[in-house]
Amino acid sequence: MTESYVDKLAMINNKIHGSIWTDADECELIAEIIREAGDGLHLEIGTAHGGTAIVAGLVKKEYGISGGVVTIDPMVGGWWDHGDGNGDTPTRQTVLDNISKFDIDCTSIVGYSQDIIPANDFKPVTTFIDGDHSHWGCLWDWNLVKDITEKFVIFHDYNFDNPKLAGVIKVVDEIASIDSEWQRYKEVNRVVVFKRLEYD
Ligand SMILES: C[S@@+](CC[C@H](N)C(=O)[O-])C[C@H]1O[C@@H](n2cnc3c(N)ncnc32)[C@H](O)[C@@H]1O
Repeated sequence: MTESYVDKLAMINNKIHGSIWTDADECELIAEIIREAGDGLHLEIGTAHGGTAIVAGLVKKEYGISGGVVTIDPMVGGWWDHGDGNGDTPTRQTVLDNISKFDIDCTSIVGYSQDIIPANDFKPVTTFIDGDHSHWGCLWDWNLVKDITEKFVIFHDYNFDNPKLAGVIKVVDEIASIDSEWQRYKEVNRVVVFKRLEYD
């Protein structure tokens, strides 16, 4: 584990309301992929408190990578109604306040990926899938982004310890891993990265 990401995560967690839902190794890999992709939009499905969107925005800022970050979340149901299990219930204002604490290019859009993505002409270089973790939700998101994402698609919550996340494992192992246009590229803990083959 790289010390700098342990420190960066602690800094973000201290500064934001709520929590970031990734660990330091995962953030380090996400940051490495955003750097490798270079200029262009980073699209995120599943904002929660804004933690991983803030990580992405900070990487782009630190390395002078243009394109910004767009993060999508309906901000209703689940944690937004019943709390996140860490004793916090996020709100739209929480997310806006959290993002505004960092001088980053990050836009939060309220809505479901399945509505927002088809309605916009996003051309991301990287997409992070961390929204609806059901099999169908995750599959829907993969299908939404695999043709519009230029370089890398990153899945979160590839997690054998939680039966509720079996759908993510199925999409990663049985769908994305056999897609002829994508190569299973790197992984750590609950993060799996796919690289578009033609981008090599
Ligand atoms: C695990 S949290 C995201 C954590 C965040 N990426 C982080 O690590 O800081 C999952 C989020 O996905 C959102 N979500 C669920 N279904 C979604 C969908 N169809 N489109 C976009 N977001 C969705 C939920 O509301 C929830 O806030």
